[in-house]
Amino acid sequence: MRHEHLISAKQLSRGDIEAVLDRAAEFAADPGAHSDSHAETLLGLLFFEPSTRTKMSFDAAMKRLGGDTIDMGSVDSSSVKKGESLADTVRVIEGYADALVLRHPSEGAAKLASEFVDVPVVNAGDGAGHHPTQTLLDLYTIREHAGLDDLTIGIMGDLKYGRTVHSLAHALTNFDADQRFVSPESLRLPQGVRYDLRNAGAEVHEHTALEEVLDELDVLYVTRIQRERFPDENEYRSVAGEYRIDAATLESANPELSVMHPLPRVDEITPEVDAMEHATYFEQAHSGVPVRMALLDYML
Ligand code: CP
Repeated sequence: MRHEHLISAKQLSRGDIEAVLDRAAEFAADPGAHSDSHAETLLGLLFFEPSTRTKMSFDAAMKRLGGDTIDMGSVDSSSVKKGESLADTVRVIEGYADALVLRHPSEGAAKLASEFVDVPVVNAGDGAGHHPTQTLLDLYTIREHAGLDDLTIGIMGDLKYGRTVHSLAHALTNFDADQRFVSPESLRLPQGVRYDLRNAGAEVHEHTALEEVLDELDVLYVTRIQRERFPDENEYRSVAGEYRIDAATLESANPELSVMHPLPRVDEITPEVDAMEHATYFEQAHSGVPVRMALLDYML
């Protein structure tokens, strides 16, 4: 993998993905055995939006590799609050760190930041745009459970604003994956994403009812309705709670079905599913550390 920055899953070839996932498997087998790999490396964490998994797993990954992190902290406690631009912020922090991990509410923010600095920038989520490192851990989990070829995957929920979906769908065009997109009409994939998927040779099958596809699926990837992205709260209320996975929903599923979710969830998967064999989402979240270790190892 030879990318200076990781901004979009569209950058990732099948070879890139397989190299990161193979390396991640080595880290997962013995996470404590690599603590000299990147000693004295400092990773800058710039999160302009809330995060639990992405931020903490990058923090853990860098420390597991023997490096350390510096954290801008919350927007409210930083000089962003005084009106400092993103360009100035990253130009300053590149002098403190060897690479930057950026989450921002604006689509395109990571790309913009990468144009102002010489250190690698990793997009940790840009608005409703992309979240490529989430995709790498999603692919890692899918590979473990179902394999990445000859895969039928249902991707359900907020396909309009869900950045993890946009990145995952692009990355899966590198594999023999049949993607079924399940959402309310108003939350279908954006036109640009559909165009890119078709351009990459994928068929875009869209459904409004999970029952139309459930029994065919190897993986069901559920997403949260991204309330914070809706311009109008009434629009959110009109679709909130439309899809809910519970034990009864899964009665007609393939017994081998893996239910995944990038998390956080709100109410789209009921807690009773957590104890079922189908539930893969906590394991998925845990793979964030070895996968981000592998990515940092390649990029640094
Ligand atoms: N999946 C994910 O991006 O979670 P966080 O928002 O907690 O980082």
